[in-house]
Amino acid sequence: MTTTARYDAAQFPKPSLPALPVLSSLKLNRTASNTIPAGVLTCDHRVHVYSGRYAIFLALQCANINTGDRILVPAYHCLAMIEPLRLSGVEPIYYPLNADLSVTVTALAERIDQNVKAIIVVHYFGFPQNFQAIRHFADQHHLIMLEDCAHTCFGQTAGIAVGHLGDYAIASTMKFYPSVHGGILASAQHEIETDSLKKPSFAVEVKTLINSLELAHQYGRLAYFGQLLKMIAWLKLLVFKLKSTNANKVVSVNKTNQNHPPEYAMTPTWLNCQASRISQFLMQQTRITDLMQIRQAHYDQFLAALQNRRDCHPLYPIRTPEIVPQVFPLYVNNCLPVFVQLKQQGVPIIRFGEFLDQAVTTKTCQVSVDYSEHVLQFPCHQSLSGNEIDWIIRSLVCALDENS
Ligand SMILES: Cc1ncc(COP(=O)(O)O)c(C=O)c1O
Repeated sequence: MTTTARYDAAQFPKPSLPALPVLSSLKLNRTASNTIPAGVLTCDHRVHVYSGRYAIFLALQCANINTGDRILVPAYHCLAMIEPLRLSGVEPIYYPLNADLSVTVTALAERIDQNVKAIIVVHYFGFPQNFQAIRHFADQHHLIMLEDCAHTCFGQTAGIAVGHLGDYAIASTMKFYPSVHGGILASAQHEIETDSLKKPSFAVEVKTLINSLELAHQYGRLAYFGQLLKMIAWLKLLVFKLKSTNANKVVSVNKTNQNHPPEYAMTPTWLNCQASRISQFLMQQTRITDLMQIRQAHYDQFLAALQNRRDCHPLYPIRTPEIVPQVFPLYVNNCLPVFVQLKQQGVPIIRFGEFLDQAVTTKTCQVSVDYSEHVLQFPCHQSLSGNEIDWIIRSLVCALDENS
């Protein structure tokens, strides 16, 4: 895997705003109007797991994809998608993407052999894609289709909800809901056997709640709980000197630094384990309409400010009314200095695909390598206010002006 950093990550302060949703109100949502919109969460069969990568790991098991098998994976990926394949002994075969991140079937056909058992397709950044042709291709070649909805919980194309076309779909719910962990394995086609999955202990449930509260407090979201949270943090120290058992050891294939596991690492504790009930509870309590409308408004705020510049361009310049964006992805021509300047100022930035598997080169896919180096994603989630989005935009515009 490519490990050469293009900068020293340690030089950056912690972002001053949360990159992912955090708890911002403890008002419980008991309204009947909290109907889940069509998407991966409305698949008939679902199981909540720790995060998206654990859902991929489980999907491989459900589909009986094992050591020696191969799987088609988009060249524009993150290492968190690859880790469950490596843990399962499954070899990724990378396929190229078009500039709008769509897939061309002929590019897949060239990569098929008898060991290829499945294909992963990704709905990037909240924008659902029409994967009917890929479904067709998968059926022709007897491949399992895994729909990666980590960025796109909601939406539909051609009348089919995301997550419903694949044999299996995965979601990374912590990207949309205010919980420190959360993922889903879903299927509209196959039952998912859950009996063999462990359930988190009570201690883990409490820890999840405390971590979610603490994170919110760190970002000043639950100020009125300040004293209570200090007490909770103290209690946590006391109670959760949780035995650092072998079970918590990182099982990443990259063993270079066990003390600081890479971000994409996976732990045995959460393999074949369901998500905490707390993370599911926090999902249920989230007001869906707020989640959708605020994300859309924030996305549009970014679009309005950045769509006519010459030094950058939004990857998706049109947001149709039903799109619920995960982030605002921006192609920045002179990316590295802009990125470094913003990080130094504490601006939250997500960089999907920043590090690609070393098997991916410009020969595999020019677009993916280009996006890996030039696309920054800015959070537009519901825990940020319009003023905070304004601050991100102002900082971004300044950094762009200074580095054009
Ligand atoms: C497209 C995609 N799939 C899967 C994953 C893994 O999800 P998680 O981080 O929830 O394990 C990610 C993580 O960012 C992702 O971006």
